Amino acid sequence: MKLLEDRIKKEGKALSETVLKVDSFINHQVDSEFMDALGEDFAEHFKDAGITKVFTIESSGIAPALMTAKHLDVPMVILKKQTSKILNGNVYQTRITSFTKGTSYELTLFADYIQPEDRILLIDDFLANGEAAMGASRIIAESGATLAGIGILIEKSFQKGRNRLEEAGYNVYSQARIGKLGEGVIEFLDEDAPAADLASEASE
Ligand code: G4P
Repeated sequence: MKLLEDRIKKEGKALSETVLKVDSFINHQVDSEFMDALGEDFAEHFKDAGITKVFTIESSGIAPALMTAKHLDVPMVILKKQTSKILNGNVYQTRITSFTKGTSYELTLFADYIQPEDRILLIDDFLANGEAAMGASRIIAESGATLAGIGILIEKSFQKGRNRLEEAGYNVYSQARIGKLGEGVIEFLDEDAPAADLASEASE
């Protein structure tokens, strides 16, 4: 998606070969008009998928997920990160480990906010190894609902996430796909370029 690629070119900073900083418009300061445009694009892409709810994982996915939900006219649900298991209450939980941040948490959803007939669109800001998205998919499967699509703002195609999600059978749309990062280097991939070769060598 050109709008996002142009913004990344203008304001994104490659901190290393694996980390892209986008604090000025996504992760720290948020540009609401821009998020609205990204949400409109996700809604257009998934308009025929019968989406009944947009899910995201706190916190940076919330802004684009909310805008997407607005354009699809469905509710948005935030999957919470708890440091430990909730032992009472009707919840779905699964453990997620972030390789990028070196942290673990229990991804948590109260059962009230998902029904077996729901068709879920998962929106998140970054796709790296796919741990968070695979965790969300476990929760959705456990509830009996369907994960009908996954929308990502920035896919790091040299990491494993895209392949893992596609191998698991999910419909993934990334608005910007990054093939290579390095100090001062940000290279984009076309929407339909395979991620497989690039990711096969990457361990994280
Ligand atoms: P994965 O879910 O795809 O496996 O990703 P991984 O665990 O490696 O990283 C997850 C966390 O790291 C996410 O934040 C994600 O937004 C962030 N992240 C991954 N790669 C990058 C990057 O290149 N740049 C930036 N700025 N962030 C990156 P989170 O822990 O869910 O926190 P939050 O930011 O949503 O609160």
